[in-house]
Amino acid sequence: MSDLHEFIRHLPKAELHLHIEGSLEPEMMFDLAQRNGITLPYASVDAVRAAYNFCDLQSFLDLYYAGAAVLRTARDFHDLTAAYVQRARADNVRHAELFFDPQTHTERGVPLPDVFAGIAGALREAKAEDGFSSRLILCFLRHLPEADAFATLEAALPLRDEYADLWIGVGLDSGEVGNPPEKFAGVFARARELGLRLVAHAGEEGPPAYVRGALDTLRAERIDHGVRAEEDASLMRRLKESQTPLTVCPLSNLKLKVVDDMREHNLARLLRAGLCVTVNSDDPAYFGGYMNANFIAVAEALSLSREELVTLARNSFLAAFVSDAERQPWLDEVDAMLRR
Ligand code: HPA
Ligand code: ZN
Repeated sequence: MSDLHEFIRHLPKAELHLHIEGSLEPEMMFDLAQRNGITLPYASVDAVRAAYNFCDLQSFLDLYYAGAAVLRTARDFHDLTAAYVQRARADNVRHAELFFDPQTHTERGVPLPDVFAGIAGALREAKAEDGFSSRLILCFLRHLPEADAFATLEAALPLRDEYADLWIGVGLDSGEVGNPPEKFAGVFARARELGLRLVAHAGEEGPPAYVRGALDTLRAERIDHGVRAEEDASLMRRLKESQTPLTVCPLSNLKLKVVDDMREHNLARLLRAGLCVTVNSDDPAYFGGYMNANFIAVAEALSLSREELVTLARNSFLAAFVSDAERQPWLDEVDAMLRR
């Protein structure tokens, strides 16, 4: 293993942009289909992988929602989450904030309490095993009406006390273009009143105006992706000044053709412009790699220095929704990497 790979492997990290449904590996998709008596439209694991050729976000979402149909029971959500935690640990991820998409499951008749119980069960076990830290962010599907997002939030509220250790915020995902942040102004205002943390996908395929909308209308505290902010110089200045974190997902951007070549990815430019950039895996089972694969891809393609890799890891802990008491030991460990 090269020195660079070794350095990345040892770097402590927080993952802040991970859709748990997007960690469903084809092998598990087949196992769960069999367990639940579901017939998949694929003959083999290889046939599933061969279908992962996306031309844009929507072509991915079509497969992602179809794949999620094998998730039926609390046990399925538990096993999915436990498998992700194993992968994250192997990459020295210490803290993860997981997105989940309740509407994808409730519309198929899966009870919301089963979704919560399965995911939270695995995360609590992980915490007990070795201190693996995590939180949950409930995402609204932006291709659906705001009224559906409201109904989802109201359905989740009776579970809030039971999952107070984990469920800390709401997010906004799914097809971006044509579904601007303003469509969800009401439900984000309600979530804010309730004291939930707020994040939103913006500026992945959508224009810089969507990043502004997420900041001004939704009051998002972090922007998921945000790479298209670079097209707007005054927005770049604002993001630098506010240090609003961007949860960038390099392999996702490559697979969904947000960039044509990793050497053209703007992560290094955003970082060198002084924005609070983080590296994340988004939907690792679909995009070809977990956390360290994303770090390695940008480190190599963009010739990132060790100081820059440390800054990315540092930013991930600074951007995490945790207390300063939880954050500080991780920051100390990250800083110690430069003295190795
Ligand atoms: N963008 C929007 N919606 C998503 C994504 C993404 O990258 N991954 C899963 N749902
Ligand atoms: Zn995402």
